[in-house]
Amino acid sequence: MEIQEKFLKEFIKVTQQASIATFHEIGKKNKNEVDKLATDAMRKVLNNIEMKGRVVIGEGELDEAPMLYIGETLGKNNGPEIDIAVDPLEGTNFAANNLPGALSVIAVTHKNNLLHAPETYMNKIAYGSNIEKGVIDLDNEFTKNIKNLADFKNKNIEDISICVLDRPRHKKIIDEAKNLKVKTKLISDGDVSGAILVTNEKFCVDIFLGIGGGPEGVLAACALDAYNCGFQGRFIFDDDVSINRAKNMGINDLKKKYELKDIVKGDSIFCATGITSGELVYGLETSGDYFITDTFVTHKSKNIKKNIKEKVKKIT
Ligand code: FBP
Repeated sequence: MEIQEKFLKEFIKVTQQASIATFHEIGKKNKNEVDKLATDAMRKVLNNIEMKGRVVIGEGELDEAPMLYIGETLGKNNGPEIDIAVDPLEGTNFAANNLPGALSVIAVTHKNNLLHAPETYMNKIAYGSNIEKGVIDLDNEFTKNIKNLADFKNKNIEDISICVLDRPRHKKIIDEAKNLKVKTKLISDGDVSGAILVTNEKFCVDIFLGIGGGPEGVLAACALDAYNCGFQGRFIFDDDVSINRAKNMGINDLKKKYELKDIVKGDSIFCATGITSGELVYGLETSGDYFITDTFVTHKSKNIKKNIKEKVKKIT
């Protein structure tokens, strides 16, 4: 079943407004406040959509998030049943410090077509659509993946580019990449964008890999699915609280390696509007009473994969 095209406009509006809502708080060093502005605006616009929406990936559990918590129902309760993953502000550090790369992100599918992911880390790997299955695998040693990829692409290892979050936990990957003379793009935050960089060769990233947020992995997987790219992920549970939460969400195999088809099924829509400029999208610009917004959009069944620049007024 396809998600009707009219919904694309509605969900673009959601991330546009969440993004615009942050504008006056960008660079004010207050991560909580800027996140709250995006979350409140996102919820307001979502509640105006003719759907029976349900948050499957949100700002946390009800006890820790007053808005857009996992399980919250949204919309006018009179349309299709939609599962919703949100990250109203991806890159809170970026927005709080007016640094490049802050986005507002949403992904939606029909009910039960999106993985319900707990708030925990995920080991992930993403690669382009032109790579045959089996060339890259989450369970391969890093060096094996790089050598396989270089062979498959008929490239020198030195011409392979990786993207990885700059974290001490990735020291081994970063050191091995250096030894292999692989081009390494270290990102300080924002691995939804990081993973999506494999969708287009203009970004010069062959593989994205490493440990980041599980919710961010599911969100990126929706966009990657529309591009026919490869993605695998495995959650990392390091305490009883996260194990219990996962079990309550129906995750029994805690060591499961998730393929793209296990994360997102059927049709999906993904929208990411820029707050501050990054590689994927431009940040907000002002024009009198309006904002110029740039949104990276995919709608799988319609084969829509593009950036949409629009002049938009802030909702009141
Ligand atoms: P926030 O916007 O929630 O701060 O997340 C930013 C981010 O960089 C994500 O893109 C990434 O998945 C995660 O944080 C990595 O977590 P950590 O900073 O704990 O390594």
